[in-house]
Amino acid sequence: MSAALEVQVVDARMLTPVIREFTFASRSGRLPGFSSGSHVQVHLPLAERNLRNAYSLISDPADTRHYRIAVRLQDHSRGGSRYLHQQVNVGDTLRISPPANLFALHSTARQHILIAGGIGITPFMAYISALEQRSADFELHYAYRKHLTDAYADELQQRLGSRLHRYDGSSGAALDLAAILSDRPLGSHVYVCGPERLLMGVREQAKSLGWPPGRVHWEAFSGAEPGLPFSLELARSGRRIQVSAEQSLLEALESAGLEIPNLCRGGVCGQCVTRHLKGDIDHRDSVLSSTEQAEFLMPCVSRGCGSSVLLDL
Ligand code: FES
Repeated sequence: MSAALEVQVVDARMLTPVIREFTFASRSGRLPGFSSGSHVQVHLPLAERNLRNAYSLISDPADTRHYRIAVRLQDHSRGGSRYLHQQVNVGDTLRISPPANLFALHSTARQHILIAGGIGITPFMAYISALEQRSADFELHYAYRKHLTDAYADELQQRLGSRLHRYDGSSGAALDLAAILSDRPLGSHVYVCGPERLLMGVREQAKSLGWPPGRVHWEAFSGAEPGLPFSLELARSGRRIQVSAEQSLLEALESAGLEIPNLCRGGVCGQCVTRHLKGDIDHRDSVLSSTEQAEFLMPCVSRGCGSSVLLDL
């Protein structure tokens, strides 16, 4: 895994009552380049444990003087979003991972249809900069709740004009996915980021309209969810590790000094795949088939339930 970068918080502002934007600058010159759709993992030194959360880069990929992210305060935060909202201030130093991209823009698409739900707008902020630079054909459908999750809505209205379609859920407006996905030119690509039900809705609608799977792209922003505490045993070393209710299995392994490859920390990239040998698993990933889950798990999201879990580590 690449070494973490040290960045300084040079700006922080509330965009809505629950979304806070941060601007980071390098403490040692330029930041590494990135492509639109990339994310970084932000290291969060909570009092009781270290946490790493992934956030999309929203700044213009052509400008590597700064990185920007926007963070929604989660109702059931395990501490990460609360820490960023309440503890981090301008002037503070944070450690972040180098950017990685699991949600890249398709360079040869004839038309790009972007569909965002709430904080799912974040990867599209960088997309829009790249699409504008290419003079690409695109449109953005943005569903939110006014004065709560409508980050950048007014700014985007100014910038995109009729290419922006707004759906304010607090006044009853809803996305009509059948209409959005019908009668599109061959070579169109659709990208969706937002809550799980929106992702599922777009994927199912696209499938029923005959969209080829390779033209439907999605990014879930789910991370680890808390659960019951459980115990782990590592088969190769015999070590025993406790995983607390608020901790992910991956975080427990990292706290014990193990290095597990990871990119998304949300059960979608497949990087952290680990073989399990015994114990009942609550699989929460979106990668493994049920056959694969009988042998492997994704420790960034999945947990033991009940008995101790034995891992091939
Ligand atoms: S880090 Fe991506 S699936 Fe676990």
